[in-house]
Amino acid sequence: ARPDALPRDLVGRRVVVSAGGTREPLDPVRFLGNRSSGRQGYALARVAAQRGARVTLVAANTAGLPDPAGAEVVRVDTAEALRQAMHAAAEDADVLVMAAAVADFRPARPAGYKIKKTDRDPEPVALARTADVLAELVRDRRPGQVIVGFAAETGDAGTDVLAHGRAKFARKRCDLLVVNAVGEGRAFEVEDNAGWLLSADGTETPIPHGSKSQLAAAVWDAVTALLTD
Ligand code: CTP
Ligand code: CA
Repeated sequence: ARPDALPRDLVGRRVVVSAGGTREPLDPVRFLGNRSSGRQGYALARVAAQRGARVTLVAANTAGLPDPAGAEVVRVDTAEALRQAMHAAAEDADVLVMAAAVADFRPARPAGYKIKKTDRDPEPVALARTADVLAELVRDRRPGQVIVGFAAETGDAGTDVLAHGRAKFARKRCDLLVVNAVGEGRAFEVEDNAGWLLSADGTETPIPHGSKSQLAAAVWDAVTALLTD
């Protein structure tokens, strides 16, 4: 759809979207990271701005993606930096969307110098847990604030993608959870997405295979239905 054909149903709203993937340093030149490109978060930010929202985009390692028109972009690197940027931006926000892939673990003691190889076997890397940013945002939520989480899931022996998504939704206690099937070339580093939109009222809406802009539009449709006053 052309921008001027989109609904202007987010005028007067302030939204914050996280995008990309965090990087946790092992030493000054190496990191633990993930394959999130940031494209879904960027599409969410772009569509929100087109629908009239004031948008802050907290972008983790998304070099190469053009800034979405009309969005304020805050660049972060690690899970801890993303956490601080989200908490700062959340204070006067109507909607928070956690589309970033946030590291669950970080090297516990990153080296202050470049790690050198020796003739011996390397030491194992000790990991520490990072904060769950989405859980903290839900804990600190303002009245009326709508919070959206994302879950990228693969099926496994016991449980399918949707079942994993339902279990995560019950734990996360956000208002909406976008469940994406990943693996085998799906979702990460590709243009298309498909999944389910789980809502706190119990509805489970399939999201048809389509572009990341279409998924973004479906998310904002569901969010605007939850916004009050
Ligand atoms: N998330 C977060 N902070 C973290 C990890 C995840 O805010 N440290 C957010 C993600 O941005 C996403 C949601 O939580 O919106 C779900 O992330 P996911 O990795 O699917 O869930 P986890 O609870 O980390 O569970 P697991 O990785 O074990 O499946
Ligand atoms: Ca995780």
